[in-house]
Amino acid sequence: MKGVILHGGHGTRLRPLTHTGPKQLLPIANKPMSQYCLESIRKTGITDVAIIVGGIGSNRVRDYYKDGQDFGVKITYIEQDLPRGIAHAIRLCKEFVGNDKFLVFLGDNIIQKEITEFAREFENSDASASILLCEVDNPSRFGIADVKDGKIIKIMEKPRNPPTNLAVTGIYFLTPEIFDVIDNLKPSWRNELEITDSLQVLLEKNRKITYHKITDYWKDTGTPEDIIHANGEILDNIKPSFSGTKDDSVSISGNVSIGIGTVIRNGVKVIGPAIIGNNCIIEDNAVIGPNTSIGDNCTISFCDISQSIVMADCTINAERIIRSSIIAFNSKIIKAKNHDEGVFLLGEGTQIII
Ligand code: TTP
Repeated sequence: MKGVILHGGHGTRLRPLTHTGPKQLLPIANKPMSQYCLESIRKTGITDVAIIVGGIGSNRVRDYYKDGQDFGVKITYIEQDLPRGIAHAIRLCKEFVGNDKFLVFLGDNIIQKEITEFAREFENSDASASILLCEVDNPSRFGIADVKDGKIIKIMEKPRNPPTNLAVTGIYFLTPEIFDVIDNLKPSWRNELEITDSLQVLLEKNRKITYHKITDYWKDTGTPEDIIHANGEILDNIKPSFSGTKDDSVSISGNVSIGIGTVIRNGVKVIGPAIIGNNCIIEDNAVIGPNTSIGDNCTISFCDISQSIVMADCTINAERIIRSSIIAFNSKIIKAKNHDEGVFLLGEGTQIII
């Protein structure tokens, strides 16, 4: 079996974070979200993986994963000229896939469940596809499967009157049969080739689509709120570790991971779950956590920051309470010289609530 990760798309809901690079490289617990997908695929035993790239900063994907050797896989990059839909991206893999069955992961889907069992079962089955379904509270926002007597009878995109609350997650086991289906597919109202339509065509041709219901955590991280939520969830399961240095005035509680070369001093409190990367300086009564990730090379003082993601190379030196925030690479939040006068240099689409 082969693996495919979709790493293109518009990422409009995550602007301005996606002005400079693909959303799938945004870090969750200090690791790009698509790396969780790659690790999930690798765990099934698949080592031949294609990554579909496209759009702004797709060279960063190649720079990060390179030929895949560091991740125990062999990576082939396939370029998608424009985000023409998930099914369009999958169609680009026809040559790469050949006659094999394959596993597709949307690069922004985070799951906790191991899928090795499902992969093995699909490999030995005669099904044309197998999907993972997850119960959701707001089914009209998702692709939904209608299921009767343990069988999928219909798959539809964002239905007004959803027959079930079973969302189709972004993890698909497929066979090369899907390529012919996509070749004959018409673009949807949003002018994309939809994976849900492709699966529905398979059903209409009386092909079998099996499914598994997952009850563990699943998140399609399309919005800032989703990313912050997934960050908290992943942090809950990190292994506590301490590779930095600290003085006696520092308090660390709960599940906390602190990287190499990081210095923590002068009354800092770290409340887990939290991760602080390598070579950071955290000082002057700063409070970090819970549910907070701090990337490498950050300098943080005075502030109280929780439920948040601070990416690498940031400086935060201000007496501020920071909540539910995402602060992208190389940003600064510093004290104004005159306390009442803010000075801002904001990129397009920035959001500040003060
Ligand atoms: P979506 O989240 O549905 O779409 P998007 O990434 O364009 O984001 P937004 O709606 O905020 O503008 O995409 C699901 C996944 O599939 C995501 O990982 C991106 C990927 N994708 C592609 O690789 N190519 C495509 O043509 C599309 C539409 C999505």
